[in-house]
Amino acid sequence: MTLVTDLTSRKADTTAPLIHPLVERWSPRAYDPAAEVSTDVLRTILEAARWAPSANNTQPWRFIVARRGSDAFTKIHDALMGFNQAWADSAAVLVANVAETVDPEGKPRPWARYDLGQAVAHLSVQAQHEGLHTHQMGGFEGDRLRAAFDLDERLEVVSVTAIGVLGDVDALPEALREREVAPRQRKPLDELVIVGE
Ligand SMILES: Cc1cc2nc3c(=O)[nH]c(=O)nc-3n(C[C@H](O)[C@H](O)[C@H](O)COP(=O)(O)O)c2cc1C
Repeated sequence: MTLVTDLTSRKADTTAPLIHPLVERWSPRAYDPAAEVSTDVLRTILEAARWAPSANNTQPWRFIVARRGSDAFTKIHDALMGFNQAWADSAAVLVANVAETVDPEGKPRPWARYDLGQAVAHLSVQAQHEGLHTHQMGGFEGDRLRAAFDLDERLEVVSVTAIGVLGDVDALPEALREREVAPRQRKPLDELVIVGE
């Protein structure tokens, strides 16, 4: 596959040296619609999530893991907003990231969403290390996913992650391609560190 679009600008322009998966991670919309993720690799990236830290080691993350072509994939894809449906169908795997926000005794878990996010970050970095890309999404109908997977009240779908092999950016519709090559920007560290030198 020859890409006309230059994707070198996708690498993070960091002000300090970072490990490779962090430099190379970005959230594409162009996925190879024929590529699959092996069970071993899928297991590896979920294992990375499993070993994330969590409040009191409650591990309140749950995942609905769906390969392209499966009924579960269709259910997740159907629940995405149109602007995500437009590209996410090419991902090899869609994962609904679920937080157990209330424990089995009915006590709220205030850190559940935080812990889930951290587990998803682990997963994303490991996936990048495995040569895959990920793209997290908040644009979906949570109630629709709850109904589709018959989730009980203690569970909340917080985000969806597309996972796959980078595809042909030039084959995307123009509007999506433009977003794909838009400058990657971050706030300066000075703005993030409100106290500290
Ligand atoms: C919680 C969350 C929700 C997001 N929702 C969407 C979404 O619905 N659609 C989308 O295209 N990107 C979504 N993104 C991707 C962000 O826009 C992206 O991570 C951000 O612009 C930084 O780009 P980068 O990941 O390439 O560094 C989401 C990311 C996160 C973490």
